[in-house]
Amino acid sequence: MIMLAKKRLERLAIAGFAIAALAKAPAQGDWPAAGTYDAPPRERISLDADWRFVKSDPPTAADELSYPKIKAWMLSTGIEFLGSAEGIRHPRPPGNIGDDIAYVRPEFDDSGWRRLDLPHDWGIEGPFDLRSPSATGKLPYSGVGWYRKHLDIPASDRGRRFFLDVDGAMSYCNVWINGRYAGGWAYGYSSFRVDLSPFVVPGGENVLAIRLDNPDLSSRWYPGGGIYRNVWLVKTEALHLARYGTRITTPIAAASRAEVDLSATIDDDSASNADVRLEARIFALDAAGRKRPEPVASFDPVSVLVRGGESGTAEAKASILNPRLWDPSAPNRYVAEIRIESAGRTVDEYDASFGVRSLGFDPDRGFLLNGRRLRFNGVCDHQDLGALGTALNRRALRRQLEELKEMGCNAIRTSHNPPAPELLDLADEMGFLVLDEAFDCWEAQKTPNDYHGLFADWAEMDLRDLVRRDRNHPSVVLWSIGNEVREQGRPEGPAIGARLARIVRDEDPTRPVTSACDNVQAGYNGFQDVVDVFGFNYLRSDDMYTRFHKANPAKMVLSTESASTISSRGEYAFPPPGAFDRKDGGAVPGSTPQMSSYDLYAPPWATTPDAEFAAQDRSPFVAGEFVWTGWDYLGEPTHNTSLAGGGIGLGGGPSDPARSSYFGILDLAGFKKDRFYLYQARWRPDFPMAHILPHWNWPERMGQVVPVQVYTSGDSAELFLNGRSLGRKTKGKFEYRLRWDEVRYEPGALRVVAYKDGKIWAEDLVKTSGIASKIALEPDRDRISADGRDLSFVTVRVVDAAGITVPRSSPSLDFEVSGPGELVAVDNGDPTSLVSFRSREMKAFNGLCLAIVRAKSAQAGQFSLRVRSEGLGDAEISITGLADGQGSEPPTIRGPVDRQ
Ligand code: GAL
Repeated sequence: MIMLAKKRLERLAIAGFAIAALAKAPAQGDWPAAGTYDAPPRERISLDADWRFVKSDPPTAADELSYPKIKAWMLSTGIEFLGSAEGIRHPRPPGNIGDDIAYVRPEFDDSGWRRLDLPHDWGIEGPFDLRSPSATGKLPYSGVGWYRKHLDIPASDRGRRFFLDVDGAMSYCNVWINGRYAGGWAYGYSSFRVDLSPFVVPGGENVLAIRLDNPDLSSRWYPGGGIYRNVWLVKTEALHLARYGTRITTPIAAASRAEVDLSATIDDDSASNADVRLEARIFALDAAGRKRPEPVASFDPVSVLVRGGESGTAEAKASILNPRLWDPSAPNRYVAEIRIESAGRTVDEYDASFGVRSLGFDPDRGFLLNGRRLRFNGVCDHQDLGALGTALNRRALRRQLEELKEMGCNAIRTSHNPPAPELLDLADEMGFLVLDEAFDCWEAQKTPNDYHGLFADWAEMDLRDLVRRDRNHPSVVLWSIGNEVREQGRPEGPAIGARLARIVRDEDPTRPVTSACDNVQAGYNGFQDVVDVFGFNYLRSDDMYTRFHKANPAKMVLSTESASTISSRGEYAFPPPGAFDRKDGGAVPGSTPQMSSYDLYAPPWATTPDAEFAAQDRSPFVAGEFVWTGWDYLGEPTHNTSLAGGGIGLGGGPSDPARSSYFGILDLAGFKKDRFYLYQARWRPDFPMAHILPHWNWPERMGQVVPVQVYTSGDSAELFLNGRSLGRKTKGKFEYRLRWDEVRYEPGALRVVAYKDGKIWAEDLVKTSGIASKIALEPDRDRISADGRDLSFVTVRVVDAAGITVPRSSPSLDFEVSGPGELVAVDNGDPTSLVSFRSREMKAFNGLCLAIVRAKSAQAGQFSLRVRSEGLGDAEISITGLADGQGSEPPTIRGPVDRQ
């Protein structure tokens, strides 16, 4: 089947208008002739290396590049995402904005600017400022920043198209090349493309200049600042597959056969019509993302006539016999290898990955994957990578997912914004379901400079951009149009929601739309009719789910956000016996704000994990939950001390040093809090495990009560203190932890033996440690790629003479790397530490610290990390940097897959 798209014509007409309007536009902006060069038809080149950066406007600049002045220019960048009427509404203005700003001019001397590689987050460099808002991590993320890059474009590229693909830049990003404004995008979480073709001059140096303008008071969490995701230069022929131009669905996804529908949009940026032939074959990918040698299916070739300056869409079908279905425990992927030919030549080649799976959203049975019920054992996460800030690093992201996988987590909610593309690649590969979320607000603000100011002009473009970018990913199973938007309870809510839902369905009819609602009334006031699946944030009453189900029997319900339990790793405050069921305490006395790790405490709107488990077990039709949060994140350090001071959601007042969250199941450094095991016990019921808390070093509580809890996937357990049984306890109905509330402290060993179905199932042992006497270093990987990106995460442990971790120790540690490696960052997981992550000196927090190291780019060989502490001596390990391509980080998919 063949279709022609008209919108392209309008877009190019507008681009043509812009070109005509440039008095000195380079001749290369003219419609090119068909390519006659030898280069591969499509190249996708990383542009991350070697940028110049300065964190301000030129001194002479007034506010000529402020958003109100440049808005019309920026809006013209995204018109392909609008219906044609709106497209015409946002034509590129005549002339060239920024002409009089020195930094955009190619001849400007930027040699004095700082040199750096992307991805880059300027805020994470610090310093922390006690007076800055806790909500955004007390870090300097806001302000104006400029990046420049000198690019060689060979003469042989004449006639090609050039696109700059920015995976994400925070925020209000504008791009010039050779002094000419090329395009921009406002929302810092969207990926966008700027067409450089009219302004590139092949045969020499071309200069890119990019300005970001990050408003303060624009976020409820740390958003980072800078070009913090990857940036690519894509070169194609005039006739090429459009951006996000391949769409693959599997209308039949049965064990015996899959039907695969391919739709490919081809842009013709030349003046002449083209007869185009599309061929495509399907290959299975192995676990490392490599194509298996033989194709498993082929599409019948299709032909399409694409008119000059327009787009054409070719549609084809194929069948895979006995497909290997995708699911979180067996994330099987395929790739469609697509070839476009015209006049007997290959003009474009592209690999688009996909998975074969069916989705069901059943009001009574919950979420169904390939016909089988699968509960969302999910977490919400913000995008920062702790001490690395928001600067994307695939290894750091993979590590986050590995830890979540170990816990039994099978789903991620990208709260509350479009994620980095790499998150979805990893989710496809590692097996996570994704709830892909667009916005944290609509028209009504949460913070003065947040997205509400962009909503009217940009929401449609951002939403279409997100869905088109992500819809081929098998991991994505739900779209969220908003988190706790104020409009849930307002008369205008349903109309806005319905418009957004229509946009999503228009781009992808294969997945449902949801919205995360904290207003219980949204389940009854008509807002629920806007979404296909209803998401509650937080359990507001025991009957919340059953009431909803009764009133909306045709709508699947899930918890889009649950728990928000708060704790600091390794900190404990002792609840008086019997007061275990109060969630409003837990601040550790005498400490800077730290929250007890008995996992009983939450702010007023939130609950313990157990309360959510019980509510869902009483209402098995609920499709599962997304816990707030998997990992601690920068900003929003809510703790119950701050609640007393009225600082809900923002941490305490200006003197409150807390700068990162307490909500994580893992702390900011990636160390497991006790809660990790409570979720593991529920989410991996067949994995034998038991976990005792707290630690057993309480010399000041000799003979006093220290309650002991055990998290286990067993059903009962017996606890022993120094060999004496303290009794066997069994989980009751709707109970998820075992508690010995009256244990009197004496040093020694606590041992638990857990049982399942009457048989011994798992054990755990906690011993009182001696005094701190040395440092132990444990790298997660000791062989990494020497590509300047791959990382080793080294756990630094303060131990006694016998090697037992000393739980309440916080000695100061010095870090030093020698040889061809670098210390990238340090962190100890303490939400109140204001020591820079770039410091070479940091204290341990409750016995642990983390050093993140890497091999220098292109410098293979061994390097060593040495950690010293007064009185504890030195510890040293070596790590090997492997020559390019030999790192042990498994690649995702090789080649230009899913990115155009
Ligand atoms: C929710 C909100 C999250 C986070 C959380 C903290 O209401 O959606 O972004 O603020 O509260 O409990």
